Amino acid sequence: MITRSTIVLSRALPLADDDMLWTLLDNHGEVVTRKRGARASIARCDDLKNAIAMVTMVNDKIDAKVLDCAPKLRAVSNYAVGFDNIDLVEASKRGIIVCNTPDVLTNATAEMTIALIFAAARRFKEAGELLRTRKYKGWEPTLLLGSEIHGSTLGIVGYGRVGRAVAQKAQALGMKVIHTGPASLDAVLRDSDFLSIHCPLLPSTKKLIGAKQFQRMKKGAYLINTARGEIVDETALLAALNSGKLRGAALDVFTGEPQLNPRLRSHPTVFVLPHIGSATSSARRSMAELALKGILDVLDGKTPKNRIN
Ligand code: DGY
Repeated sequence: MITRSTIVLSRALPLADDDMLWTLLDNHGEVVTRKRGARASIARCDDLKNAIAMVTMVNDKIDAKVLDCAPKLRAVSNYAVGFDNIDLVEASKRGIIVCNTPDVLTNATAEMTIALIFAAARRFKEAGELLRTRKYKGWEPTLLLGSEIHGSTLGIVGYGRVGRAVAQKAQALGMKVIHTGPASLDAVLRDSDFLSIHCPLLPSTKKLIGAKQFQRMKKGAYLINTARGEIVDETALLAALNSGKLRGAALDVFTGEPQLNPRLRSHPTVFVLPHIGSATSSARRSMAELALKGILDVLDGKTPKNRIN
């Protein structure tokens, strides 16, 4: 019995059913899409036995155990720019090519960062709560006064594609931008009114922003994070907020997603979103195209443009 090779998609991708890419993939194997909600099942060995390629999500942990289930695997295409969920060493050892989907989500993520700067500065969390709890009693001259971002300093930690795009938009809004690279992290911490995280999650950046770093920040500054939750020490963040060192935080990502620390959820000055920085229709469609093109390239014997190992 000949069993057909499979191309396993960890989730359904937002790409039209009649897109040419599906037909091209079909020439290489059967495209198998996991059901929504079958989160942990990317690791189910049986399903990966005949997999020659996989499209994975940021919340699929691709480690030696998973890769051992897929002896025929040639390509892993991560539907994200970040790839901290994939053990690249283990993939490389097995000759598996890994690629990602950069660039096409840069603008969407940068726009979300700017939205979060406004959300923090203008106290969206508290304002929303006031209405939700029916405590709003009418317009007042001093109700929920926030900060203006024009003329304030934005410090960017990690000046890659997204960091640069954020800088450009922030400058257009009249912010002064400083960033790590030319400036040390300490200098950026010291001078920022808004600190925005844009570095990848690596062993060296895990809890990069912790108690010491918050201590070095200006009193009344804000923290923005659209990168990875684990870069920030959330216990230290809560302490900095509660002591008044920080005025607020706006986060699109948090440690241990999807489980949000209840103290962050209920904190009056923490505005949190469920990791939707790149969630625009156009960015997610382009990410799908790029992810599938990466796989096709590998299966066609070419090097994908966004190869990362
Ligand atoms: C990424 O691309 O790394 C985001 O976190 C998901 O779009």
